[in-house]
Amino acid sequence: MPAGRRFATLQARGGRLAATLASLKTGLTMKPTLTLALLIAVAGSAVAQVVPYKVVGDGIPQSLTGKPGNAANGRALLVKRDAANCLQCHAVKKDRDLAAGGDRGPALDGVGAALTPAQLRLSVVDFSRVAQGGPMPSFHKAPAGGDKPILTASEIEDIVAYLSTLKSR
Ligand code: HEC
Repeated sequence: MPAGRRFATLQARGGRLAATLASLKTGLTMKPTLTLALLIAVAGSAVAQVVPYKVVGDGIPQSLTGKPGNAANGRALLVKRDAANCLQCHAVKKDRDLAAGGDRGPALDGVGAALTPAQLRLSVVDFSRVAQGGPMPSFHKAPAGGDKPILTASEIEDIVAYLSTLKSR
């Protein structure tokens, strides 16, 4: 496959990766073999894995990425209903796009006032450590026999940032 085609294929693998690759595009004047090695390295590092974190009391005080999340991205993840299918069980009544969520779990309106960011983070990362036996999935826990969590560390942080904005019921 010519280097150009391979680049296009890799680029199709995901928007996140595409952004990184786009910034690499300027480097395509480099030797093709070197460029290819670089692309493979980038693709490898994009494989999501569970990152280490520390539970303190009833929360995870530290950001999983070391940075604050982006609330707008977090909201967009819920709207998309992809891996972050919170709407299967929760609604955000005050948000037109999220009001039609399910009612197995409580509405999330006001959760940003009721819970600290640390408590929100643990709830989304591994709800089985908050309350056992419920239906809420652990979104950042390695499944049996695998290491790919449902949501990446940065998706978790974006969702925590979004939930923190939900101050009123
Ligand atoms: C399959 C159903 C289901 C899905 C999917 C689900 N949840 Fe939940 N969630 C629940 C239930 C049920 C509870 C309440 C459990 C309890 O209190 O024991 C809950 C509790 C919570 C709480 C704690 C609320 C509080 O007031 O204490 C938060 C925060 C939360 N969910 C956020 C989310 C987010 C964010 C997502 C998506 C990334 C999500 N949930 C996906 C069922 C679900």
